[in-house]
Formats: sequence, C-alpha cells, structure tokens
Amino acid sequence: MAFGDTLIRLESVDSTNNYAATLLRSADVAHGTVVLSRFQESGRGQRGKLWQASPGSALLMSIVLYPNALSADRQFALSQVVSISLVEFLKTSFSLKASVKWPNDLLCNNAKMAGVLIENSLRGTWVEHSIVGIGMNLNEHPEGTALQSTSLSEEVGQSFVPDEVCKALLPVLERNYQLLLHNESLREARYRECLWGTDRWLSYRAGEDEMKARVAGVDARGQLVLEFPDGSTRSFAMQEVQLNR
Ligand code: BTN
Repeated sequence: MAFGDTLIRLESVDSTNNYAATLLRSADVAHGTVVLSRFQESGRGQRGKLWQASPGSALLMSIVLYPNALSADRQFALSQVVSISLVEFLKTSFSLKASVKWPNDLLCNNAKMAGVLIENSLRGTWVEHSIVGIGMNLNEHPEGTALQSTSLSEEVGQSFVPDEVCKALLPVLERNYQLLLHNESLREARYRECLWGTDRWLSYRAGEDEMKARVAGVDARGQLVLEFPDGSTRSFAMQEVQLNR
C-alpha cells in the first residue's frame, strides 16, 4: 500500500492523531493510511501544547505507519525522515530553504512554518506502529507565539489547498521513508544538512547553566549534541536544554 492509498478526509475532528489512534484500536489500518482534516477542535503539539488553525488554513494530517524492525531506542529515525522530507518538499516544490530546529520545528526564514508530532506505540523493544502528525501553516499563521511563525502562502505569495499540499507531500515522505529509515549514514548526513543552528553560536540554558554553543548534531537516541567554544560536546534530552531568547 502506498502512502495515502487510504485517505480519510474529515471536515472537523478533535485531532487527526487522536482519530488515527482510535482507528487503530477498532480496526485493521493499512500502512500509509492518511487522516486529513480541514479543522481540528483540539489539535495537539509537542510538550502538551495546543496546535490551532482556522478551517482550511493549515495542512492537518496524520499517517499511520508500521515501521519494520525499528527498535525503540532508534525511534528518532522516523522523526528525522519526516523532517528531511518536509525540508526537501519545500525546496523542490517552492524553492524555499527550510531547516529543522531540533527536535520538531520546521523553520523558514527563522520562523516556524510546520511542526511534527509522532506518537509511537511500542511492543517490547520495537516500534509496533507510529502515528505521524504533521501540521503546516498554509494560508495563515499564528501571531504572538514564542517562536515567530510563518506560512507557506506568506513565503510563496499564493494561497494553498490542504488536500493538494498533502497529495504532493506524500510521495516525498514515502520515498524518504523507504530510502532512509534503515540507512543510518545517509539519513544522518541528510538530516545534518537540514539542522538549524549548526552555523551559529547561540546562548543555551540547561537548568541553571547558561552556555554559548552551536548545534553539532543529534545522537542516535535523538538527543541534541551541542558543541562548546573549547571544542567539547555534550548531549541533551528534550526537556534538558532550551535556547535563550
Ligand atoms: C508541534 O509543533 O508542537 C507539533 C504540531 C503537530 C500538529 C499536528 S496537526 C496534525 C496532527 N494532529 C494533531 O493533533 N497534531 C498533529
């Protein structure tokens, strides 16, 4: 089954990720099934945040995947594949240069255009299934957010239909999923090219510590590796480190 062979179009839903999770509990769901909605009443972002967008203004989609032989400690690989795909999609379709602010923000001109919420279900030490939620600002973007926001229409100068953007994005996601999920060296190389913050020294905070650092990469567990001016490096989990504004 190709990604999107089964495509469930909704006018409104609480969250496409929730819809996919309910579906998985009640029926056999094919690999690559997509849930696409014009509106979410309670769209979810990372770290318990809300993801809000008015009807038809954003791409709101979830894809159900059964990653073959992806171990739990390597689950960040899927996030890398999705990030690489979003960056590639914006470049090849719209000549936009986007980058990934670890762990899941897609930036264009230093403003957030999209976010990814991947929810994995584990069986033992393996990923049994994944719900890959993607939200992309198409025709509007939120104001007053901590991280400045942008939209595809703001960057490109035309409006977009979520359904069409979804259809164009799916083959890019599927190709990269097949090519990169289990090809660590290629995936790491492609991901590093996408990473935001590798070319600038910025102020980061970890607990009480303030430090000047630049992004050196992401390790196999998906932790952010920061490099310090003396050349040393250290890995940080998601809740441990923040960029100072
Ligand atoms: C983030 O930036 O924090 C992640 C945002 C992810 C939003 C998408 S919209 C489609 C899917 N359904 C949800 O409830 N969340 C994701």
